[in-house]
Amino acid sequence: MVKYQKNHLMYNKRIKEYVVDEDEESCLVPFGVICGKSSHINKRAKPKLLYFVFLSLVFCSLILTHHLLSSNSNFSLLYSFGFDKCSEADINTSICSSVPNGTICCDRSSIRSDICIMRGDVRTHSNSSSIVLYNTDGLSDYLSGNDDEATPIQHEIIRPYTRKWETSVMNTIDELNLIVKRDSGTHHKCDIQHDVPAVFFSTGGYTGNLYHEFNDGILPLYITCQHFNKKVVFVILEYHGWWITKYGDILSQLSEYPVIDFSGDKRVHCFRETIIGLRIHDELSIDSSLTEGNKSIRDFHSLLDQSYWPRISDLIQEEEREKEKVGVNNNQISKNLNKPKLVIVSRNGSRAITNEESVVKMAEDIGFLVEVLRPERSTELAKIYRVVNSSDVMVGVHGAAMTHFLFTKPGSVFIQVVPLGTDWAAETYYGEPARKLGLRYIGYKIWAKESSLYHDYEKKDPILTDPDSVNSKGWEFTKKIYLDRQTVRLDLTRFQKRLIRAYHYTININ
Ligand SMILES: *[C@@H]1O[C@H](CO)[C@@H](O)[C@H](O)[C@H]1NC(C)=O
Ligand SMILES: *[C@@H]1O[C@H](CO)[C@@H](O)[C@H](O)[C@H]1NC(C)=O
Ligand SMILES: *[C@@H]1O[C@H](CO)[C@@H](O)[C@H](O)[C@H]1NC(C)=O
Ligand SMILES: *[C@@H]1O[C@H](CO)[C@@H](O)[C@H](O)[C@H]1NC(C)=O
Ligand SMILES: *[C@@H]1O[C@H](CO)[C@@H](O)[C@H](O)[C@H]1NC(C)=O
Ligand SMILES: *[C@@H]1O[C@H](CO)[C@@H](O)[C@H](O)[C@H]1NC(C)=O
Repeated sequence: MVKYQKNHLMYNKRIKEYVVDEDEESCLVPFGVICGKSSHINKRAKPKLLYFVFLSLVFCSLILTHHLLSSNSNFSLLYSFGFDKCSEADINTSICSSVPNGTICCDRSSIRSDICIMRGDVRTHSNSSSIVLYNTDGLSDYLSGNDDEATPIQHEIIRPYTRKWETSVMNTIDELNLIVKRDSGTHHKCDIQHDVPAVFFSTGGYTGNLYHEFNDGILPLYITCQHFNKKVVFVILEYHGWWITKYGDILSQLSEYPVIDFSGDKRVHCFRETIIGLRIHDELSIDSSLTEGNKSIRDFHSLLDQSYWPRISDLIQEEEREKEKVGVNNNQISKNLNKPKLVIVSRNGSRAITNEESVVKMAEDIGFLVEVLRPERSTELAKIYRVVNSSDVMVGVHGAAMTHFLFTKPGSVFIQVVPLGTDWAAETYYGEPARKLGLRYIGYKIWAKESSLYHDYEKKDPILTDPDSVNSKGWEFTKKIYLDRQTVRLDLTRFQKRLIRAYHYTININ
């Protein structure tokens, strides 16, 4: 079981290194270094300045990458940047809004992803990892200087994945050649002619980690194609059967056509319009001002609800039949129906709550109906959705499974337990997005005493007293110390206050 994370540099008082989270499996074992410790940049610095800083960082990271790759080729470097304050100058969704027939328009203005649009006579050519557009316009003779069909008029290269700034993961993504050729009148065969547009994207990279599956894949897919009203075909690079199964419920709400495995399907697919790459806004969120139809993260939540409803109602009916057979006593069940429900998204191993049983007991004493959810890789998302969507409060320790906050119903309470050394990542990846979804978010930052590390180190050790200083030493320290080796023993008296607050809040809004 390989754990993986990536570090984040942030424009704060000092450039720091941070962690996203981890999950069960990974394709990569990233290793990061810090790049520049002395920059003092105010949080509210102007976007221009941040762009300058961004460019410097890119430059700096290139040098470092080169340096480290040449000194130790086992290191793969991952960089992330705090975008939140520069996003205004980010994508202008209208850059490629009117692409003339027979041309490619690429919008490479975002630091998170590139996106290209091709219109006209578009054909896939899987063998050469290409998408070819035949131009019948006379202009092509002029542009190409000859009428040789073999000579491309325009050639763009794109890796359709949403982590453009992380060179090492981008290098693992398949490249696509987008080519405009002159149509000399030769008959080009179409194996399949599609009447609706295609959207090309990759399910490689960090796919395998729930946070990344939603943040880098499903949400960008929603942003890019919800306005097609299912009249769109998905063409997938680095196709995984399990991904199609896992996200089938959602995919069928976004497209009514079967997905195409780009490298596995050698047939020539013809389209009149293709979009290559996905748009992405911010961590687990949607900027409705940049989305067609002004769609927001709440609309995405409604889509999830529609996606999972058919499967969940089947499950409910199945259970009803079982109950009738067995003859269950409904009294206990109806007694619990009035109680607000609290779900603990549980981890074991690293970042587990070691006194979870006591926490369950305490929550029950307060008046909650408690369910402990232990999501595993194989757990069907519809089943997790059902549990989370039926609860009023979700509690869990910082980690990829916190992505399930997207499954909570509007107005729920989300309590994220924040272990030592994970403040920034917990806030950026889950806290802020949860607030944007309209949840009542409570970040429970543990005291050193509640951490297992308290027993492993001297009381004055910076690991306990100054996690930022440890994080700034490098990614491998963060991972080894705070992520892989820390468990949490909640101070019940202290945590109880949060639960009581959540209880009253829940009672009052219902
Ligand atoms: C984005 O494009 C629109 C329409 O072309 C324009 O009005 C707007 O000023 C642009 N915004 C930015 C930030 O470039
Ligand atoms: C663009 O090209 C397609 C396919 O060649 C054609 O069907 C369509 O009519 C063209 N549209 C325009 C506006 O020229
Ligand atoms: C792609 O390659 C396969 C095997 O090399 C070949 O059989 C097939 O005809 C090729 N398809 C196209 C469209 O060139
Ligand atoms: C877009 O939606 C938001 C709510 O998500 C709303 O406040 C805003 O007024 C809407 N804007 C437009 C132009 O419809
Ligand atoms: C989610 O919960 C809401 C509110 O209780 C309910 O209306 C909705 O049907 C639930 N969705 C699913 C898919 O079960
Ligand atoms: C996690 O819990 C499951 C069962 O609840 C157990 O089989 C598994 O070994 C545990 N994993 C770790 C790392 O403790």
